[in-house]
Amino acid sequence: MTETIDLPVETAAEPQNAAPRRKLFIKSYGCQMNAYDAQKMTDLLAPAGFDETQTLDDADLVILNTCHIRERAAEKIFSELGKVREVKDARRAGGLATQVVVAGCVAQAGGGEIVRRQKAVDLVVGPQNYHRLPELLRRAEAMPVIDTEFPVEDKFDFLVTPPRRVTQARGVAAFVTVQEGCDKFCTFCVVPYTRGAEVSRPVEKIVAEVADLAAAGVREITLLGQNVNAYHGEGPDGRVWSLAKLCARLAEVPGIARLRYTTSHPNDMDGDLIAAHRDLPALMPYLHLPVQSGADAILSRMNRKHDRAAYRDIVRRLRDACPDIALSSDFIVGFPGESDADFAATLDLVQEVTFASAFSFKYSPRPGTPGAEMDEQVPEAVKVARLAALQELLDAQRLAFNRSLVGRTLAVLFEKKGRHVGQIAGRSPYLQPVQVEAPEALIGRILPVEITGLASNSLFGRLMPEETQRL
Ligand code: SAH
Ligand code: SF4
Ligand code: F3S
Repeated sequence: MTETIDLPVETAAEPQNAAPRRKLFIKSYGCQMNAYDAQKMTDLLAPAGFDETQTLDDADLVILNTCHIRERAAEKIFSELGKVREVKDARRAGGLATQVVVAGCVAQAGGGEIVRRQKAVDLVVGPQNYHRLPELLRRAEAMPVIDTEFPVEDKFDFLVTPPRRVTQARGVAAFVTVQEGCDKFCTFCVVPYTRGAEVSRPVEKIVAEVADLAAAGVREITLLGQNVNAYHGEGPDGRVWSLAKLCARLAEVPGIARLRYTTSHPNDMDGDLIAAHRDLPALMPYLHLPVQSGADAILSRMNRKHDRAAYRDIVRRLRDACPDIALSSDFIVGFPGESDADFAATLDLVQEVTFASAFSFKYSPRPGTPGAEMDEQVPEAVKVARLAALQELLDAQRLAFNRSLVGRTLAVLFEKKGRHVGQIAGRSPYLQPVQVEAPEALIGRILPVEITGLASNSLFGRLMPEETQRL
């Protein structure tokens, strides 16, 4: 007769002779996809023996998950690496080893150059290869390793689902990458080179990830992609699904109350997606739709493949479908050849469309992109003046939008403790933080809040009485 003994789970999972756990310090720069990737790296490294630390000095493994979009972002990495090198040297003097990894878009663009420029780096790994981290780290113990080849396998198939308590600790709003890469080749942009060609994840895998998040209490999902509305993933029916169809499917996942998607390209705003803003209550009435410039000549030199009239037309159709929708955008000032009249056309477009919020940047010539080689580069002083003028207008519009909400009742998803004792903080449908006096037990709930006031970057509100809480 065989005897079986059921070991308690904890004993089975943590054998007495397990290797000591090590500490991971990971810092992410740039876009939300990088933030998502950093979480995935953390999840992947947990079973390999790493726990996250917020203190650089403690770290056995340091990962900088980098951004290459503008020169300043890329250069910042090298000054950060200087600091990391000092910590690595100090730890070595104390008999402790530290592995240093450069991941993300600077890694993809810089490759072996990074190791030549900063000797403290042990591993350079591109955004499509980080699923190999445990193995790459072992190899990097002997000598520096560079892995920036675009792999044949799909990294998403190798990623690890974290334990439920880890997801719960990350809060009730989560990101999920559904599409990666870009085929658009705007002449200013490095992303097609650092993230590669457009790839969409299959619907079923996204649904499974969202269902896992929902089971851990997540209520709001932001679908991520460099061109998220170019999504064309394989559906369970074997057909290609659009982003609109994917959103409709995800809205059915029990527990999921809110959906957002970012970043969209105007040319991929198809009729179905516009209609989804009318028909799908879970889709939040807030859209980040970068236009970059309001001048046709500049849009053409940027290779945006649409003109000002096409952008205005999309905005009109969106507002027809969803009168409540608020828009946000990205702008670049001082692209090569931008005249005073071209810049005036950008200001004019902003006046006409009106944005609830926006990001605006001085053009930064990026190595390897066509824009960097163009004639008529705009002098720095002109860029500075144009950026100031544009930001003044955009700030005024943001403030006017926020003011227009005072006195209105908005559905707020409560996410965490507030700034002061007794407060909790949530997000409006328009992504603004809202501070409310309310008990912590309401975190994770979506409740009607009357907006009572404004601070510079957030709103204040009052929870509506129980009988009005029907949202
Ligand atoms: N995929 C997104 C944008 C990715 S980059 C899209 O298609 O809109 C985010 C923003 O950075 C861009 O919208 C653009 O405004 C800005 N940006 C990109 N390259 C830049 C450069 N070389 N100089 C200044 N800003 C840039
Ligand atoms: Fe860059 Fe243009 Fe692609 Fe956006 S659409 S990632 S701006 S190349
Ligand atoms: Fe930066 Fe790469 Fe994102 S360049 S903006 S981290 S895609």
